[in-house]
Amino acid sequence: MFKDYRKIQINKRRTFAIISHPDAGKSTLTEKFLFLGNIIRQVGMTQSKKSKNYIKSDWMKIEKKRGISITTSVMQIPYCGYLINLLDTPGHEDFSEDTYRVLTAVDFCLMVIDSAKGIEERTKKLIDVTRTYSIPIITFFNKLDRNSIDFIELIDQLERELKMVCSPITWPIDYGNFFTGIYHILEDIVYFNCRQYVHNDVKHSNIIHGLNNVLLDDIFGNKLVKQFREEIELIKVVYRPFNHLSFLHSNLTPVFFGSALKNFGVSHVLDSILKWAPPPTFKISHTRKVKSSEKKFSGFVFKIQANMDLKHRDRIAFIRIVSGEYEKGMKLYHVRTKKFFIKSEAFSFLAGTRFLISQAYPGDIIGIHSHNKIKIGDTFTEGENLKFLGISKFSPDIFKLIYLDNSLKKKQLLKGLIQLSEEGAIQVFRPITNNSLILGAIGDLQFDIVVERLKIEYNICIIYKKINVFSVRWIEAQRHDKIIDFKERNKVNLAVDIDDNLVYLSTTSINLSLIQARYPHIIFRDTCEY
Ligand code: G4P
Repeated sequence: MFKDYRKIQINKRRTFAIISHPDAGKSTLTEKFLFLGNIIRQVGMTQSKKSKNYIKSDWMKIEKKRGISITTSVMQIPYCGYLINLLDTPGHEDFSEDTYRVLTAVDFCLMVIDSAKGIEERTKKLIDVTRTYSIPIITFFNKLDRNSIDFIELIDQLERELKMVCSPITWPIDYGNFFTGIYHILEDIVYFNCRQYVHNDVKHSNIIHGLNNVLLDDIFGNKLVKQFREEIELIKVVYRPFNHLSFLHSNLTPVFFGSALKNFGVSHVLDSILKWAPPPTFKISHTRKVKSSEKKFSGFVFKIQANMDLKHRDRIAFIRIVSGEYEKGMKLYHVRTKKFFIKSEAFSFLAGTRFLISQAYPGDIIGIHSHNKIKIGDTFTEGENLKFLGISKFSPDIFKLIYLDNSLKKKQLLKGLIQLSEEGAIQVFRPITNNSLILGAIGDLQFDIVVERLKIEYNICIIYKKINVFSVRWIEAQRHDKIIDFKERNKVNLAVDIDDNLVYLSTTSINLSLIQARYPHIIFRDTCEY
C-alpha cells in the first residue's frame, strides 16, 4: 500500500525550470502559473514592478540591491491534482553558475522566447547546458499580443540556431492587436476572442471544434480563415508531428504560442506539462542507476544559499530528492563525511517564504540547515555509499585577480574564499607558479557579492585587478606521463582550483584552440564534477 502511495506521489510531480533571455516573460509566466494553481488570487501584479506585493520568481534582484544572498528559488504549485515544482534560474545580471546548476536538478525545461526578438544569447547558453544532460524542452513563444517575427521564421530560427527539431502544437491567429486566437493542432480546437478573457483561464473562453467548422468563417471572415487553413496545412506538412518518445529523449520540442501577460495560451503549456513531461524517473550515481521508485531515501545538494535569514546568518542546502521519502526527524547519511545527521527540520519554499515540512517525495526540493560541512554535489542517503553524477562546476566567463590590502589577512581570506566556493558563489584558482588568487564567475554580480560577504562575514576588504584570462579548462589525460609533460611545458598558464584539480587558464580563444591542437592526448574539460 505504501509503495502504491509513493508511486502516486511520484507520478504527480513535475519538476522543471524556465529558461529564457532576460525580459522574455519568465516572471510574468510564473505569476500566471501561480494564479492558475490558485496560489495567488490576482494577476497583473508583474505589470507594476513598483508594486510591493507582487510575486516575482527573480528574487535575486533584491540580492543585487543588498549585495548578499537573502532569498531562495523554488516554488511548489498544485495544478489539476498534480504538483509542479518550479525552480528559478537566476537571470539578468544575477546570471551565475547557480543558473546552470539548477538544470541538474530538473526533469525538463520550459524555454520562453520573446516572439518579437527570437532566439537570444542567454537562451543559447542555457540550451547548451540542457543538452549536456539531455533534458527535454517545451517551447513557448511569448508576447504574441505585441509585434512578432513571422511565426515560421521563429520556428526555423529555433531549428537552425538551437539545432532543435520543432513540433508546433498550437498556432496563433495573427499577432499584436489582431491576435485573435490560438488553434490547437492536436485537439483540432480554436480558442479565440482572447482580449475579452484577459484574466481568465483560456479553457473557459470561447472555443470552436474543428478547423473546418463554418462558424470560424462567420467569426473571422472567409478570407482570413482560408489563409489560416492553408497555413496550417503547410505547417502539418513541413514540421514533424509530435512524438512523445522523441520529446522524452530530448530529440524534439513541442512548440506553443501565447501571451503570458494576457494569460492566453498559458494553460495549454501547463496541460502539456501534465500530459507529456516526465515525472521523476532516475538519476545516475557512480555505482548504479537510482530509480525514483526505490524505497530508500536519496538526494543530492545542487545549491547552497547563505544568509537566507539575515538575523541568523544561516546557510540552507537545497536537496533534490531522487528516491524514497523524506520524513521529519529521519536520519540522513552524509556520504562524503560518512556521518549520519538527524534532520528534524526540512523546508519547502514559496517565493521568499519557507515552510517546515514533514514529508517530501522524489522530484521535491527540500532545504536543510547546512553547517559548513555540506558542499554542492554532496549526496544524502539512508546509509548507502552513493555519489550522484552530473553536478558540476562550469568554466567561468569572467576572471579577476584579488588584491588584498592587508597581507596578514591572507589566511582568513582563503578561509572565506573556500567557504564561498563551496557554496558555489565563486570559483577560486591558484596559479602554480605564484601565490596570487584568481576568481572566476559566470556573471558580474558574483564578484560584488564576494566583496560584500568577505567584508561582512570575515572583516576583509579586497579589491579586484584586471587579469588576462579568457577561459578555464580542467585537465585530464589517460596517461599520467602526458600530464607531467604538459605541466612541465605550460607552467605559466596552469593553476589549481579549490579542490586541487589542475586547470589550464587560456588567454584567448585562439590560445585555447592552439593548445588543444598541440596536445591531442590531453582532455580539456569545460566542466568539472564536484
Ligand atoms: P523576465 O522575468 O523574463 O525578465 O520578464 P518579465 O516577466 O519581468 O517581463 C518583462 C516585461 O515584459 C514586463 O514588462 C512584462 O510585463 C512584459 N511581458 C511579459 N509577458 C508579456 C506578454 O505576453 N505580452 C506583453 N505585451 N508583455 C509581456 P514591464 O513590467 O513593463 O517591465 P519593464 O519593461 O518595465 O522592465
